[in-house]
Amino acid sequence: MQRSDTKATLSFSDGRATVELPVYKGTVGPDVVDIRKLYGETGTFTFDPGFMATASTKSSITYIDGDKGQLLYRGYPIEQLAENCDFLEVCHLLLFGELPDEDGKQEFERLVTHHTMVKEHMYNFVRGFHHDAHPMAILTGMVGAMSAFYHDQLDINNPEDRRISAIRLIAKLPTIVAMAYKYGIGQPFMYPQNNLSYTGNFLYMMFGTPCEDYQVNEVVERALDRIFILHADHEQNASTSTVRLCGSSGTNPYAAIAAGIACLWGPAHGGANEACLNMLEQIHAQGGVAKVGEFMEQVKDRTSGVRLMGFGHRVYKNYDPRAKLMQETCKEVLEALGLEDDPLFKLAMELERIALEDEYFVERRLYPNVDFYSGIVQRAIGIPTDMFTGIFALARTAGWIAQWDEMITDDDFRIGRPRQLYVGPGERNVK
Ligand code: ACO
Repeated sequence: MQRSDTKATLSFSDGRATVELPVYKGTVGPDVVDIRKLYGETGTFTFDPGFMATASTKSSITYIDGDKGQLLYRGYPIEQLAENCDFLEVCHLLLFGELPDEDGKQEFERLVTHHTMVKEHMYNFVRGFHHDAHPMAILTGMVGAMSAFYHDQLDINNPEDRRISAIRLIAKLPTIVAMAYKYGIGQPFMYPQNNLSYTGNFLYMMFGTPCEDYQVNEVVERALDRIFILHADHEQNASTSTVRLCGSSGTNPYAAIAAGIACLWGPAHGGANEACLNMLEQIHAQGGVAKVGEFMEQVKDRTSGVRLMGFGHRVYKNYDPRAKLMQETCKEVLEALGLEDDPLFKLAMELERIALEDEYFVERRLYPNVDFYSGIVQRAIGIPTDMFTGIFALARTAGWIAQWDEMITDDDFRIGRPRQLYVGPGERNVK
């Protein structure tokens, strides 16, 4: 953060003294006004429900320019990372700040690969869930429970403990997500296969069975790896902010990531891909493309409560760059699997075409977000709808843990404690 000579002056119309507040510049993006002394000097808080104009932290991990539709991880455009790197290289980048060289890549792969197994008792733990539990309920519980199974290295002030926790989380999330899936469908759990790639191994644990050989389809592997890259981090979104706030109390990383998973579950956030696919299936069942116009009228009727899921974003006021890449992947996967005529893809394309021309969406700058096409890809791969958010959580774990680590080592690290504008009754007596 570079200090600038600029100061912001805040004056009040009720005669209170004027205050000067420092303004800081980031590398790129909007400046920030440092209001930390505001309460001490004026007895006043700022009010910003939903964090519409509040930078909750400084960070050097991810940058989004919502107007341009740009997303950078550690300075690298998401398009270049999606084109040239695999997910584990991106994890290395997020965690350590640089893409690994060839030796570093092999070492990182070896490290992650050697932590893919989970403690055997975790299989008993997962069996305690009801057979029809939502995978996100299982994931929240299982990741929280990792602090019980891996409590040997939980000192958050010890860099080696933080590093091993990060590796364990990235390595074990695919195993745990696959366990949640297998448990739900009543199939035996598959142990990780360390001769496969990170993503190939995940596909094996999801779709392999002990009865026959499982061959990883390379197109599917690449598509899923891209989904992981596109979902790996997204600066201070709701779940990442949850991880940071939860972790700011000094709790262990597994507890903080479990809190992030719980937050991600909501339909306004990671749950949107599931909600989006449900929406497409519903329109398809009601008549498909012919019913798109009617559906769009409902969306535009603000009393209906119907939203076009997979559209709109708090930060992107342009096409989400991840949605473009996802649309590309969607075409590739559907072609490779002989599903070019997939009716949901056609439906999605038609919804997008109409929305991009419609005044309601244009005026509000609503564009497809990453979730608009990711559900169609996952469905084509064979991943059931209720697993979509779990896949997102698997990928976002890399970003969450990198952000958590950055927070712990930040000079400004302290417990997060927002304040409020109290509007309840003043002091009163019971009798
Ligand atoms: N469909 C229809 N109208 C919408 C949509 C949508 N998907 N999204 C926003 N709007 C409208 C709102 O009704 C509002 O209209 P108004 O000004 O007439 O009241 C205006 O656009 C602004 O919307 P807000 O809800 O105020 O925007 P906010 O930044 O708070 O919400 C959000 C962003 C939650 C993503 C919203 O666009 C949404 O609900 N989208 C659908 C869910 C979704 O796809 N979420 C995934 C987000 S990406 C991710 O988490 C990976």
